[in-house]
Amino acid sequence: MKLNRRQFVILSAGLLAGCAMTKTGINSQASATGERTIDAGPADAFREEGVYDRFRNQGFFLIRRDGRLLALSSSCTHRSCTLSAGPDRTFICPCHGSTFDAKGAVTKGPAQKDLPLLPIRIDDRGRVLVQVFGTD
Ligand code: FES
Repeated sequence: MKLNRRQFVILSAGLLAGCAMTKTGINSQASATGERTIDAGPADAFREEGVYDRFRNQGFFLIRRDGRLLALSSSCTHRSCTLSAGPDRTFICPCHGSTFDAKGAVTKGPAQKDLPLLPIRIDDRGRVLVQVFGTD
């Protein structure tokens, strides 16, 4: 099927609109590269120090540490299994047993790389937006 320029523009706009999705009550937008911006909700909901693990299946943990809000990838750096948060603010991979400390540093392999911090910002409405790469 060959598309003219007008058809291509209309089709592209439709695909972009289709990428705006809502998953389990969490708003996210995806780009063609798999990069997504996830609206985690109002920043006021994350005032307490600790790990908020409700976003782990969306690709990150929100962490309030020393008053700062951080987003740490929840994807194991070994083979991308989704991590679980331990009670002591560490992270555990259920697939092959890698563990990470509270800052995301590898404490036990087979993973070799630390967990990356993800870009995070608070928009003008006070909502937390997290940029996630390469996970569904
Ligand atoms: Fe996490 Fe292998 S995928 S240890």
